[in-house]
Order: sequence, then C-alpha cells, then structure tokens
Amino acid sequence: MCGIACLASPSSGKNCYKALEKLDYRGYDSAGMAGLADGEIEIFKTTGSVKNIEDFAKDFDCPLVIAHTRWATHGGPTKENAHPHLSYDGSLALVHNGIIENYQSLKTSLAECGIGFKSETDSEVVASLIAHESGSPLEKLSKATKRLEGSFALGVLFKEKVILATRRHSPLYIAVTTEGNMIASDVVCFIGLAKEFYALKEGEIAMVTEDKIELYDSQLKKIDISFCELEKDETSISLNGYEYYMEKEINEIPIIMRSFLSRYAKEDLLTPMKKLFEGVDNIALVGCGTAYHACLFGAKVLGERLNMPAHAYIASELKYSRPCFKNTLAILVSQSGETADTLGCVPIFKKLGLKTLAITNTEHSALARECDAYLPVCAGVELAVASTKAYVAQILTLYTLARYLSQEDFDIFSLSHLPEAAERLLGDYSRLASEILPAQRVFFIGRGLDSVTSQEAALKLKEITYKSAEGYPAGELKHGTLALIDKGTPVVVFATNQDLYKKTMANATEVKARGGKVILVAPSNFEKCDCDYFIPLPTLKDEAEYSLVSIIPFQSLAFLVCRALGYNPDKPRNLAKSVTVE
Ligand code: M6R
Repeated sequence: MCGIACLASPSSGKNCYKALEKLDYRGYDSAGMAGLADGEIEIFKTTGSVKNIEDFAKDFDCPLVIAHTRWATHGGPTKENAHPHLSYDGSLALVHNGIIENYQSLKTSLAECGIGFKSETDSEVVASLIAHESGSPLEKLSKATKRLEGSFALGVLFKEKVILATRRHSPLYIAVTTEGNMIASDVVCFIGLAKEFYALKEGEIAMVTEDKIELYDSQLKKIDISFCELEKDETSISLNGYEYYMEKEINEIPIIMRSFLSRYAKEDLLTPMKKLFEGVDNIALVGCGTAYHACLFGAKVLGERLNMPAHAYIASELKYSRPCFKNTLAILVSQSGETADTLGCVPIFKKLGLKTLAITNTEHSALARECDAYLPVCAGVELAVASTKAYVAQILTLYTLARYLSQEDFDIFSLSHLPEAAERLLGDYSRLASEILPAQRVFFIGRGLDSVTSQEAALKLKEITYKSAEGYPAGELKHGTLALIDKGTPVVVFATNQDLYKKTMANATEVKARGGKVILVAPSNFEKCDCDYFIPLPTLKDEAEYSLVSIIPFQSLAFLVCRALGYNPDKPRNLAKSVTVE
C-alpha cells in the first residue's frame, strides 16, 4: 500500500533505489524519486513498477533522496499522480503512504490562497500545506500534520538540506545503515545493511541528514532513540534460486513449521496465555482476507477445545458495527501487523475494556505493540502478495494455542510430525493445473474446517489467476450454487473428517451427476469415491492437522495456473501486500 524509502548518503540515488526495490510488494502502479542537487529539487517519476526508475536512479548522485512506489488510491496510476510531489513553491518534495480524509477541504482552502495543483492526489495537497505553513521545516511539518485527518507516513525533502519523516497509523522505520541514514516503510530495506532499527511512534518526527538522525516528540522536544535489534539476514529476502517469491514461500512451509516448533520449544511463549484467558467466556477473532480465514479456523478450534463461544469477524465490518462483547478476549490475526482495518479494531476493543492478543508474523508491527499480548507466527519474511506460508503459520499458532490451553500435558513435540506431512504435499500438480486452466470458474467445497480451507483455496486461485473461484460449506451447494455446475466444472472436494466423510461424498456425487469434475482431497486411508482426480493426504491426528497441510496443493495449483496464463504471481493486478489504508 505504497512504499517509502529515503536516504541521506553521498550516493543516495543508487542505494535508495535498492531499498525501494524491496518495497515493490507494497504497490506497483508508479514509482518516483526526488533529490536535492545544487540547492534545487530534482524529481523523476514514471508509471509502472520500481524497475522503471532504475536507469535514472543509478546516476542520481545527490546526498538526500526520497523515493516512492505507489498503490493508487486518489487518482489513477498516471505519471502526474506518481510521487514525489513538489509543493507549489518548489521548497519541498514529499512521499506519502496513507489516505488524507479531509484533503478536499484543505485543497479548497489552499486554492483560495491562489495555490494550484498538478495531480488528483491527496498527497500533493499535503506537500503544499506543509510549504504554506510558517517556521522551520520541523515547525511547518508539525503544524501541517495537526490539520490532517486520516492516515499517513510521510517523507519530506526540504531545500534546507534535511529530510523529515513522521507517521500516523501507517508504518515508518529509521536506521543508521552502511549506506547512510535511512527511512523506510518496512525493515526489509535495512536487512544486510543495519543491525538495529527504530519504529517511529505516532506523531514523532525523525530528522535525517547525512551526518545524523534526530528524533522529536509531538511537542518538538528532542528525544533519545532506543534502537531495537534487527534479527533478519539477507537470505530471508533473497529468491534463493526461485524465480518467484510465491513459489519459494510455498516451498518454505516445512521449514517455517520447524522454526515455529523449535522457537516455541525454546521460549516460554505460551505460559502467559493462561493468565490472558483467565475470566474469558468468549473469543472474538478478527482479520482480513487470508488472515480472516485463519480466524475462521481459530474460532472453530479454540471454541470447540475450550468449550466456549468463539466467532470470527471481518475487521472492516466489525469496525463499523456496534459490537457487544463481554468477558471476551479479542484475537487479532495479521501477517503484516499493519493492516489498517485490523489495527482499527484495537481501539474499539480497548474502549470495551477487552484484553487483546495479536497473532502476527511481524513482531515489531503496530499490532504487536498495541495489543496486550502477542504470539509470533514465525513464518519469516513473506513478500509475495498472495499469502501462503504465513497462512499455515497462523493456523499452526492458533492450533498450538488451542491444544496448549485445553490439554494438561500438552507437549510441543507432539506436533513434530507436521513438517514432514507438509513436505509430502509439495508435489507436482502440473497435471491438475492443466485441467483447471481452461475452466472459467472453479468451486471448492468441504464441511467443518474443510470449508475454511475451501475459502482460502478459492481466494488463492482468484487472487493470482483472475478466475472466478468460490469456497463453500459442502452442504450449502445444493441451496443455490449447484445451479452453476455444468459439464466439466471443476469442484475440489476436501473431505478430511471421517465422521462427515459420507455426507461430503454425497455432495461430491451430486456434483458428478451434473457433469462436474470432482477433485477429491482426502486421507489416503479413507474409502475412495468416484472422482476425476485424487490428492491423497498422509494420515494425521485430526481435522485441524489436515487443514495445516491440505491447503498446500492449492497454493501450488494457483501458482502453476497463474504462470501458465503468463501472469506474475508475486504482483497480482490491483493488489498490494500490506493494506495500510481502509
Ligand atoms: O497482513 P495481513 O495478514 O493483515 O493481510 C490481510 C490480507 O490483506 C491478506 O491476507 C490478503 O488477503 C492476501 N493477499 C491473501 O493472499
């Protein structure tokens, strides 16, 4: 959802470009760079991905550079709307991630002062608003941001030879790197270049020059910076021989399961959960997209094991409803920990006096900081827009939590067989992919937790292949959707629950009777039914364990179909990885 990288160093252009490249996953509608050369601000911007500014950046040798990759919100993906935006008087250039909700009224009042605009963006309004304020760069930025409503992470290059950065809701980090002093939307930019970083707090302003980084609070009082250790190394963001991150990340699933188990065995992360759950009678799980599917899984597994009502909510819906929760623990699930819709639920839960638990892959994220407790999902850096290993890690965390809280003698090593089971499903699904390729629409059905897997499998397929795909509880099909099944329509049937197997098979038979093509996913020891394609699962303990591995073939399938269609699986159209706007 837009990425910002700013650098103060002698050869900023080239190195700032390298940082920006790592933020490509945040949007690829347009990119741009601005620098201060001989006292003047020079800007280069273009449509398309970061790659398109590489030639310009490599020879752009100014000491202070700001750069941006855009996911369009206000105004189309045109060159005019690309960042950086120059203020009306040319005194500063600005890059922005977020949405300014009151930009129309600010634009009108600036226009009344004779200020004109070149783009349709809310961001250009912010640039001119800052320039129009009085005082030093610090004072101007502070005064202007007080007038903004909405969310923002800003990097502002002033002619006074300084870059200022500040944020509200959207993430922003600073670090002293081997390439110079850096500001970025994600710590991935610092990997291999710095050992520590600082996550800017709401309202703080970082002042970055070639020589130093200074930090100011919202009253413009200088404060100390307490840096945190950056643990990730370069292998976590390299493609490691793969052509695409998505493929690499699917193949990492057994590895990340092992790191999860070894971290939970070494660190006592679960004991504090007992206290957190004390006095809790209900559980509310909140997330978006794939993380919401993890919440559906968590609601079933925690609810059944702890014998209490547990419900999953879509964050963007919950935020504007009138939730009535009592004695409820709120669990917020997010890979990035920066999703605006999910983060926006935290104050609502706090206002209701609820305890909050973040389940996130990003330990330094706003979500982890703002909740009362957090559990790491240990999936490592996930860069492909389509979430794969993080989904498996999220449901593994929720499953582990449910087992720990419900089972007196729970031992983390009782899950040690799972990585090997996952490994067995990293097969070659190209034959299945060639069958799915001609289909206009694909259905996924299952009962219980299999219906959650169905929804996640459908999301994966539609998000990167642009095919119409739906996931349904198997019993629901005959209540309407069966009308869409005709000759050759692929229907994936997940059937991992022995008790419900016969019922699900009856639904598969209904599909066959309409000419549909049944792709069955079931444990190899279950009685086989008449199907067109069979994906056998290794024998596991329960329905939840099957959910941890049965999704893998369909992550691979989505990848293969996407590639066969000639699309880039890492950059699906219209999407971005971290959705930091509402
Ligand atoms: O970072 P989050 O887990 O909060 O992101 C939530 C969704 O935006 C995300 O899962 C999205 O649905 C993925 N692109 C799905 O693959």
